[in-house]
Amino acid sequence: MASYDVIVIGAGPGGYVSAIRAAQLGLKTACVEGRETLGGTCLNVGCIPSKALLHATHQLHEAEHNFAAMGLKGKSPSVDWNQMQAYKGDVIGQNTKGIEFLFKKNKVDWIKGWATIPEAGKVKVGDEVHEAKNIIIASGSEVATLPGVTIDEEIVVSSTGALSLPKIPKKMVVIGAGVIGLELGSVYKRLGAEVTVVEYMDAITPGQDAEVARAFQKLLQKQGLNFVLGAAVQGVETTKSKAKVTYKLKKDDSEHTLDADVVLVATGRKPFTDGLGLAALGVEMTDRGQIKTNAHWQTNVPGIYAIGDVITGPMLAHKAEDEGMAAAEVIAGKHGHVNYGVIPGVIYTHPEVGSVGATEEQLKAEGRAYKVGKFSFMGNGRAKANFAADGFVKLLADKETDRILGCHIIGPMAGDLIHEICVAMEFGASAEDIALTCHAHPTYSEAVREAALACGDGAIHA
Ligand code: NAI
Repeated sequence: MASYDVIVIGAGPGGYVSAIRAAQLGLKTACVEGRETLGGTCLNVGCIPSKALLHATHQLHEAEHNFAAMGLKGKSPSVDWNQMQAYKGDVIGQNTKGIEFLFKKNKVDWIKGWATIPEAGKVKVGDEVHEAKNIIIASGSEVATLPGVTIDEEIVVSSTGALSLPKIPKKMVVIGAGVIGLELGSVYKRLGAEVTVVEYMDAITPGQDAEVARAFQKLLQKQGLNFVLGAAVQGVETTKSKAKVTYKLKKDDSEHTLDADVVLVATGRKPFTDGLGLAALGVEMTDRGQIKTNAHWQTNVPGIYAIGDVITGPMLAHKAEDEGMAAAEVIAGKHGHVNYGVIPGVIYTHPEVGSVGATEEQLKAEGRAYKVGKFSFMGNGRAKANFAADGFVKLLADKETDRILGCHIIGPMAGDLIHEICVAMEFGASAEDIALTCHAHPTYSEAVREAALACGDGAIHA
């Protein structure tokens, strides 16, 4: 039996970052992980592998659609799916090995296996019971499917199965026009599949600024994705190699079907707390199966903390990382803090979508007086040169004080561009602060500045 100051349960982005920070703060730390490799869903079957496939297939798209116009003539590349999978596997391996190295460097013990908490202060893994003054639960989330839909990871797949399909399907139906559905739907569309996305709401990416969501849908349609909106999926029937998806249109209750070789279920995720023994411990949960925590990530059981996808808030790796670091700091007697008002969200399609802060709809609902500064990438020289002029930057600022309230970008590198606004919001900056900051030319970032100028006396290149 070993004794620790902190045992973190789960080595996803929330857990491993938390463990490293705890160790850096001088706490004797271990991290329990049952997978063969560290990194959790994000590194093994989520964020990182999907980015590899998005990158590879975007290169293919560029070769097929833009190379000739740039004077790059010749045959477009053909797809070697096995090699693309090997490339993806290599990227995963480099990243998961990287965490093993960081654990060693920071003296974090990796306890291999699945953890149970028999009582506060103890973590059981296999037959071993370890003592822990503090326990941080970072056990993440799992796929939430629909009634009438059974995931077999062959014909009806979750994101995990969709990342490793044995071959590229001819017809794919995606259930859910959220982040996973659109990222992986884009991948298979670019690889030549006919992709239809069925979404319950009347718009894609619910919760997104509506103007951005509409523009996003148009651009994805231009790329060949089909959408059925306002449609509730009733069930999926499978034969040996095919599936039939039944949905009801909400507007008239009419029932329809779609045939597919592969169905991707992307209707959200739910907290994963199986086997931890939380009920016996009396850990309070929300009615959505999340662990209840206070502002310091403490549960109602002293010495037990929880962070990331198992608690409330958006299920995002970077939100989990921030909570992980902050919880470790709280345990070390410091002042861990997360600003939940400035957590960016990014969709890694092409173009990307990056957002932070309030949407226009939220400001309207709150009755706030605001102004909008918008700038199209059509007016951005760099974007034009790079065949990336689709999209715009939309900056929302307080009408009286000019303080930035939110920003929504659809366009090239939106996921990186959004961070200028995150920093600005952390500093309580005004749109004018951005407008008065010199931005290098020619960069995509100039579009952000132009949107800020549009909140004042006007953009220059509009
Ligand atoms: P999501 O919550 O983003 O989207 C699910 C979609 O499914 C919603 O639009 C919902 O209206 C729709 N839906 C639900 N029931 C339906 C039904 N019966 N018929 C048709 N549509 C239905 O969930 P998603 O895409 O599965 O992602 C899971 C989690 O992983 C999310 O929290 C997401 O933020 C996170 N994630 C984040 C990524 C990123 O930051 N780039 C990438 C991948 C996942």
